[in-house]
Amino acid sequence: MPITIRSIVTGAAGFLGSHLVDLLMKEGHEVVAIDNEVNGSWKNLKQWQDNPRFKKVHMDILDLQPNDDNFKNLDYVFHLAGLECPVTSLNKPEIFFSANIQGTVKVLQASKQSALKKFVFAGSSAIYGDASTPTLETDSIGPMTPSCLTKSQAEETVLHWGEVFNIPTNSLRIFNAYGPRDLNKLYPGSAFSIWMKQKKSNHPLTIIGDGSNARDFVYCTDVANAFFIAALEGKNGEVYNIGSGQAVTLNEFTDQLKGKKKYIKNKEDEPKKTWGDISKFQFHCNWQPRIPLASGIEFSLDAIDDWEDTPEWDEDGLNEFLKAWFEVYS
Ligand SMILES: NC(=O)c1ccc[n+]([C@@H]2O[C@H](COP(=O)([O-])OP(=O)(O)OC[C@H]3O[C@@H](n4cnc5c(N)ncnc54)[C@H](O)[C@@H]3O)[C@@H](O)[C@H]2O)c1
Repeated sequence: MPITIRSIVTGAAGFLGSHLVDLLMKEGHEVVAIDNEVNGSWKNLKQWQDNPRFKKVHMDILDLQPNDDNFKNLDYVFHLAGLECPVTSLNKPEIFFSANIQGTVKVLQASKQSALKKFVFAGSSAIYGDASTPTLETDSIGPMTPSCLTKSQAEETVLHWGEVFNIPTNSLRIFNAYGPRDLNKLYPGSAFSIWMKQKKSNHPLTIIGDGSNARDFVYCTDVANAFFIAALEGKNGEVYNIGSGQAVTLNEFTDQLKGKKKYIKNKEDEPKKTWGDISKFQFHCNWQPRIPLASGIEFSLDAIDDWEDTPEWDEDGLNEFLKAWFEVYS
């Protein structure tokens, strides 16, 4: 009889979590999916709802108890539940501290019930701030907002629990993931999700600044694959950059989306370029980003109906939203 591998994914109903669940289910894992739908949606996982290897647990990770039964007899914990929005966190830092730090402690405490093979944390490249590029894991960090600070402190917490309680860990510092299911339910989380909604509505694509800022856009299934490979091959206690290996300007990216553009007030102090050096993960785990930008954009456009019901952000809405940024950085 094949051995059953049992994994938990927190944040499973979200953008990256749901792609990771897809991969684990296809690999034959038993998956316990935890989410409170504050930003994700169980619709993202409806394809698995009748599968006996899939269990949906609708809960807030802040309510987790250390003896939660779902965390018994696990092989892997993939902890993706969290909040990340630099601008919102300038106005409401407390919710980021509770979801990202207290929430991570709750997940770690419950995980101690299992002899885990690996605890993989969704860290963030945003903790680097305005870093030199290509950015290495050993470069200094410089979180610019409470959201980024909490992602950094949550990562430290995971690595600390790993050392003190003997839990094998990895943290993946994800660059700018994009692809189907990256929606704007709670806040305008990514430029990509804003553009896809604008494209769906036939409205101009809003670009902050003159479009020359560049980002390391990595396709969602490449990130899901990185979580899986880190669980199997990642060296204990290591932090890995997960990116595409290149930086693409906002103009180049939106050229490929094909639509009218509308340039809006620049966030002068935000990084001009993000670009992760991914050689450590490539070397340790033999991972490669497989989906070129043109294909990732094509797959996303094929799924454009995903953005039907999400809130739209136009120039006025974005300028209002960005006020908090301009009050701090100007
Ligand atoms: N998407 C990216 O480019 C990116 C980049 C860097 C890091 N990350 C990290 O990856 C993880 C997943 O990001 P995503 O883009 O899929 O975001 P997402 O918002 O789509 O997914 C996060 C999920 O966590 C759930 N969640 C939040 N707080 C919760 C709580 N208290 N209890 C239970 N569930 C809760 C949300 O409902 C959501 O479904 C996050 O931790 C994020 O910080 C993402």
